[in-house]
Amino acid sequence: MSELAPPAQELSGVRAVVTGGASGIGRAVARALRERGAAVASLDLRPLAAPEDGIAEVVCDVGDDTSVRAAVARSAELLGGLDVVVSNAGIGSTGGVEDVDDDEWHRVLDVNVVGAARLVRAALPHLRASAAEALAAGRPSPAAVVCTGSIGGWSGLVQRAAYNASKGALHALVLAMAADLVREGVRVNAVAPGTADTPWVRRLMAQADDPDAALAALVARQPTGRLVSAEQVAHAVCYLASPLAGATTGSVLQVDGGSHSLVLPPRQPPQTDQTDQTDQTDQTDQTDQPDRETR
Ligand SMILES: NC(=O)c1ccc[n+]([C@@H]2O[C@H](COP(=O)([O-])OP(=O)(O)OC[C@H]3O[C@@H](n4cnc5c(N)ncnc54)[C@H](O)[C@@H]3O)[C@@H](O)[C@H]2O)c1
Repeated sequence: MSELAPPAQELSGVRAVVTGGASGIGRAVARALRERGAAVASLDLRPLAAPEDGIAEVVCDVGDDTSVRAAVARSAELLGGLDVVVSNAGIGSTGGVEDVDDDEWHRVLDVNVVGAARLVRAALPHLRASAAEALAAGRPSPAAVVCTGSIGGWSGLVQRAAYNASKGALHALVLAMAADLVREGVRVNAVAPGTADTPWVRRLMAQADDPDAALAALVARQPTGRLVSAEQVAHAVCYLASPLAGATTGSVLQVDGGSHSLVLPPRQPPQTDQTDQTDQTDQTDQTDQPDRETR
């Protein structure tokens, strides 16, 4: 982000919690919300030992209802209420349908799906209060939920049966919550990142026989030729969290470098100088001869 203009303070006065805020996408979201003026609490199993300015650290296990309720109450106390909830904490799971036993199914669904439900359930009284206060004063409601889904929620990923299923269920949960809450002034949306360069992906790569080759293969399958950055996902989350996105609810926004929607031919191997010159000549010809463009 450093080479771009600093973001506007459009979230000034907004109070936000982010789960999984100690690492990767969650940390980038916490920082991006703070940069836009929000007061932020990061909720994580393992909070940062050295907190950053403007981001409160709160212990939370989204797999445990008592822990979630305590963390939400503590965050509301620290921030003076809640307007935005970012449900981002999630865990991975590898294996096809034959490989995943019942315990693993329950573990993954409990964190990735029920964890989001627990968080929103605990935060709803605060979100309702935020919406009601703003609407009574004639202001747009700042109350919003943003969940971190995944490209795996709607594209089949190899050897990710439980993870894929959990993210598909999360996308559906987002739609159900959006329908239930829209008339109360609470918007609910999700981002669906593609492969993002976070500690999670680096951990996966480290398990490969050849980590560099495995990372190169992930990059090569991206239509953009680059992994998604945590900051790019965070920017999309901030867009959905902002009252400026007041007409957007019940949506799942792709942040995947085009992976879900675009079908491209394989990349060509590097070309020789001779070939490059030929290609340039062809392009010049087309540009210079309008008749040819109409064919
Ligand atoms: N990295 C990717 O390629 C990618 C792609 C699509 C979606 N996602 C999603 O993005 C989210 C974040 O992934 P990331 O890549 O930043 O991972 P990460 O491993 O870097 O960070 C995940 C954070 O969540 C926390 N966490 C895990 N279980 C928790 C629990 N029970 N309660 C509270 N906190 C918990 C971890 O401590 C960690 O700080 C996940 O939901 C993941 O499914 C990631």
